[in-house]
Amino acid sequence: MGQRIAIVSALEPELAEVLALMPDEHKRTLGGRVFWSGHLYGHDVVATLCGMGKVAAATTATLLIEHFKAEQVIFTGVAGGLAVDLEVGDVVVASGFVQHDMDASPMFPRFELPGRGITQLPADGVLAQVLREASQDAVTWLPKLLDEATLASLGLHRPAVHQGLLVSGDRFVSSQAESHALRAALPEALAVDMESAAVAQVCRDFGVGFGAVRAISDRADNEAHVDFPRFLDQVARHYSARIIRKALNLL
Ligand code: ADE
Repeated sequence: MGQRIAIVSALEPELAEVLALMPDEHKRTLGGRVFWSGHLYGHDVVATLCGMGKVAAATTATLLIEHFKAEQVIFTGVAGGLAVDLEVGDVVVASGFVQHDMDASPMFPRFELPGRGITQLPADGVLAQVLREASQDAVTWLPKLLDEATLASLGLHRPAVHQGLLVSGDRFVSSQAESHALRAALPEALAVDMESAAVAQVCRDFGVGFGAVRAISDRADNEAHVDFPRFLDQVARHYSARIIRKALNLL
């Protein structure tokens, strides 16, 4: 058996199919979160839902590492698209993470983690490669998993996989103006979520490898509050189930 792998999502629909496969007998509640421990596709796995936001994510990551002895962490879920060529249904595999609401200026440059001298936290290279391969597989499956009407109503065409910078902050980005401002401040950013960069910081502190994969649920614009729950409800679980299965088989 290899290293113990933690699998985390923020919300239940993002991980529903994976959790359905986890054995119930090793379910444990700690800090108001439920942790499922067991074997999945030949790996020693602990899976949990952290809730939305950086504090919830960081607390959960700490418990996963310190209490549940996770040696690698994978985050799977949805994100708002920022880069112009990203469409709803595309998948972003993180190569690095920035906390877009970190700003201790003028003492430190905007976005820099105070006292660390860095702005961008890198993803684990092996996990990023495996998640990319798993995502390539998942996007070919998605059109077969959903009916025509659902695909059309969500505007899903030929989903693509992108790899690059994922930014996180304690805001649901839901206006054109805000996503435009984020793109201007962080031109490399592909997508925005509310947890990944916080988990990345905790994993770095403990020397644990971290990888994140996010399906684009909305364009972080004025329609985001409508697109996000619809995608969450109808699509997110299919992506995470496919990606996690393939990734664990590759690891
Ligand atoms: N996760 C999914 N969509 C998001 C958005 N628009 N802003 C922040 N996090 C998100």
